[in-house]
Amino acid sequence: MTENTPSKVNMEKIVSLSRRRGFIFPSSEIYGGLSSCWDYGPLGVELKRNVKEAWWRTMVQQRDDMVGMDASILMHPKTWEASGHLSGFSDPLVECKSCHQRWRADDLEGDRCPSCGGELTEPRLFNLMFKTFMGPVEDDAGVVYLRPETAQGMFVNFQNVLNTTRKRLPFGIAQIGKSFRNEITTGNFIFRSREFEQMEIEFFVKPGTDEEWFDYWLEERLNWYVKFGVNREHLRLREHGKEELSHYSRRTVDINYLFPMGWSELEGIANRGDFDLTQHASFSGKDLSYFDEETKEHIVPYVIEPSAGVDRPVLAFLCDAYDEEPDKDDIRVVLRFHPAIAPYKAAVLPLSRRQPLVEMASEIYAGLRQCWTVTYDDAQSVGRRYRRQDEIGTPFCVTVDFKSLEDHQVTIRERDSMNQIRVPVGELQNTLQAKLDGEDLFVLPPGGQIWLEANKEE
Ligand code: GAP
Repeated sequence: MTENTPSKVNMEKIVSLSRRRGFIFPSSEIYGGLSSCWDYGPLGVELKRNVKEAWWRTMVQQRDDMVGMDASILMHPKTWEASGHLSGFSDPLVECKSCHQRWRADDLEGDRCPSCGGELTEPRLFNLMFKTFMGPVEDDAGVVYLRPETAQGMFVNFQNVLNTTRKRLPFGIAQIGKSFRNEITTGNFIFRSREFEQMEIEFFVKPGTDEEWFDYWLEERLNWYVKFGVNREHLRLREHGKEELSHYSRRTVDINYLFPMGWSELEGIANRGDFDLTQHASFSGKDLSYFDEETKEHIVPYVIEPSAGVDRPVLAFLCDAYDEEPDKDDIRVVLRFHPAIAPYKAAVLPLSRRQPLVEMASEIYAGLRQCWTVTYDDAQSVGRRYRRQDEIGTPFCVTVDFKSLEDHQVTIRERDSMNQIRVPVGELQNTLQAKLDGEDLFVLPPGGQIWLEANKEE
């Protein structure tokens, strides 16, 4: 933990909670795991889907100037010549002459092996693209690459999208999908892995308006993280110096997050100018220009690219949501997820496993399942069940008690405040929807009441 990180969270706690509660497991764990590959478990897959959903809804569904697509991972090998990845997508690699461990030269502080102190080789460039073969013959003609970014699938489809959607500038193409990089050094849990997902936008604009759009997208993307629960103080912008700009970029600003290991990149916003469309036009021999109706000229649009991972935002949402507070003699661990990000929106808890309580709780559970991802828990005391739901970030618990059988009411307990209200079963769905949308817990539906400590049957 660095001196600036939120004091209650560290990577060990996040990794342990993720493992213990079924968010994220090491890949192929029964065989000893596979370095830097991770499997999302039952809760992790919901969390990750929610992050992607929140991005797609805001960036595509709710906008008039964005369309989505889903390109294949394997692309024509010329793509990577044109994009510059074949010649330029490499890191300097050194090898220890004693223990043969390999390191990224630019990660090292001294000139000796950090592991055994041995002498290092001279740096050589190591291309980060995974290579494989298409078809049954493993020769040079069959070489293809697993894409190292989703971006190129959108550039090569620029004319297809333009022709089929009749979009006019400015407009964007958005895509979510897997990318692969044979990173030399990985680590910090899901922060840097060899197989990961990206959520990328290529936003096409008229040259000359690119700087304005760059600022616009920086603000939009920053606001997106804050809207879905990341503390603004844990986000910071970092402008790339001229010497570190990627070969395609005129300007890049990273959105950094205060991860447990310190400030690190969450997302990058780049002004790619006309680099990609010009390169693909030249390598493919196809016209990738845009006819500007106003000036009656063919132009090559500039591109602003907000490029986020999925796994890094997942880690940031987990770290930012993590909280601990004293609870009698113990500590209450709470993931204070925004409701849109939380894996389960609600948990249904029958106070006992006896009939007819179980029947009533099961019916309520079946009804809520039609609206949201919810869970059901009838094991141990209700107090322990609340703690279990707190620890996985479930915003609301719905408790069915013996009184419910008589008055057809249930209690709703809010994760963050632990306050409770009691509402008629017929009002439950609408009330939960309103609370998930941000309504104050104590705004009551018809027949609802604030549920006081004295009334509880815990
Ligand atoms: N198309 C531009 C591009 O790919 P990048 O900065 O190399 O730019 C964008 O990657 C984002 O993808 C990063 O900000 C990060 O969130 C995610 N990312 C990149 N490499 C990653 C890795 N090895 N593991 C996890 N996420 C990664």
